[in-house]
Amino acid sequence: MIKIVTIVGARPQIIKAAALSRAINDQFKNQISEVIVHTGQHYDHNMSQVFFDELRIPQPDINLNIGSASHGIQTAKMIQGIEKILHERKPNAIVLYGDTNSTLAGAIAASKIHVPVVHIEAGLRSFNKSMPEEINRIMCDHVSTLLFTPTKAGLTNLQNEGFELHRSKSYSVDHPGVFHCGDVMYDNSLYFARIAETQSAIFNHFKTKPNQYILATIHRDHNTDQPERLEAIFEAIHQIATSDEVDVFIPLHPRTKKMLSKNLTPSLYQKITENKRIMISKPVSFLDMINLEKNASMIITDSGGVQKEAYFFHKPVLILRPQTEWVEIVEQGAGKICDADQQKIIEAFQTFRYDQKINFSPIFGDGKAAEFIARKMVEIF
Ligand code: UD1
Ligand code: UDP
Repeated sequence: MIKIVTIVGARPQIIKAAALSRAINDQFKNQISEVIVHTGQHYDHNMSQVFFDELRIPQPDINLNIGSASHGIQTAKMIQGIEKILHERKPNAIVLYGDTNSTLAGAIAASKIHVPVVHIEAGLRSFNKSMPEEINRIMCDHVSTLLFTPTKAGLTNLQNEGFELHRSKSYSVDHPGVFHCGDVMYDNSLYFARIAETQSAIFNHFKTKPNQYILATIHRDHNTDQPERLEAIFEAIHQIATSDEVDVFIPLHPRTKKMLSKNLTPSLYQKITENKRIMISKPVSFLDMINLEKNASMIITDSGGVQKEAYFFHKPVLILRPQTEWVEIVEQGAGKICDADQQKIIEAFQTFRYDQKINFSPIFGDGKAAEFIARKMVEIF
């Protein structure tokens, strides 16, 4: 039996962790014991607990309750808490997801005391180090012992940074193993889409018809904290909703909620909040979210996970960032990089509105990424 400590903290990590916990429970119960540690980076009910309840993830064994703070303070407190747990629990490995401060803290804490790091969603790069996530993912990859990458682009990025791709044994932090395994989020979308059909009641609250609305999410600090960018994005959304008479549903991240009244001009803020076609809600549960994604005509987002889910559900996506680490989505013609440019957002909306002939070829694996990862961990540790 091997013991792993899994670190979650931000919403998408809790969701991603569901896939591996499910694989362990279904197939590796006698080979892997999992200790789930929540850093407390996200803490509102609908940013955290709702996912444990809905996705049947085991409750966290430990919650560090770190909460919000500046990058340095938040990460430092997490490192302190995680290091203590690793000393106490003595796992064979620590499992880290994605690119948040919780990921970085886990990577630093574990690698310094020689606990092997398993990084899921390794190798992704935006090539933009002004994003905190880019720093987090590079640092984590370079102290990992096993790197599981969801895409071919991830594999190429790692190779370009000097990782050897074909090592087959004796893995260590100095000789890491790199595996292309598909995306655990795709596993989840396949698994939960059927459940969402019967268990999501979102359309009782949001009165619109399938394929007649746009789903939008905005939360990147680069967009929320720069007034001119937030203004351009919401101007575009307002224009699409008004001129084109399209409903827009926006489950708003708490960060954006706080910045909306502060950073939008009062006149745009008023137009947005009074526009009957724009529905701003609290963050929704995962089952509601994938139901909304599945039935949207188009998706507008700066989220990493939502870009991919748009692709899983064969929806065109407007990407509110200057670049994306999910380059395959753009290469397939399913996504358009719009940055925070009002004109580009409107033009991309018009293009996709009248031409949705996109080939959604399978670039995120076969829906069994978590099983692959669990099997490799059992073989290796
Ligand atoms: C974090 C990740 C980002 C990820 C996102 C997922 C980092 C650096 N960023 O960004 O990569 O895409 O999570 O959603 O790790 N807040 C609440 N309630 C909560 C959580 C946050 O009100 O439950 C508010 C607080 O004002 C907080 C702000 O949101 O200061 C930002 O939260 P934080 O976790 O620091 O970063 P995110 O923007 O959520
Ligand atoms: N999500 C959700 N409810 C919401 C918004 C997003 O369940 O109101 C899910 C979404 O389906 C995806 C994940 O949260 O699985 C993406 O997280 P987020 O956009 O916060 O972070 P990112 O992926 O950009 O790191």
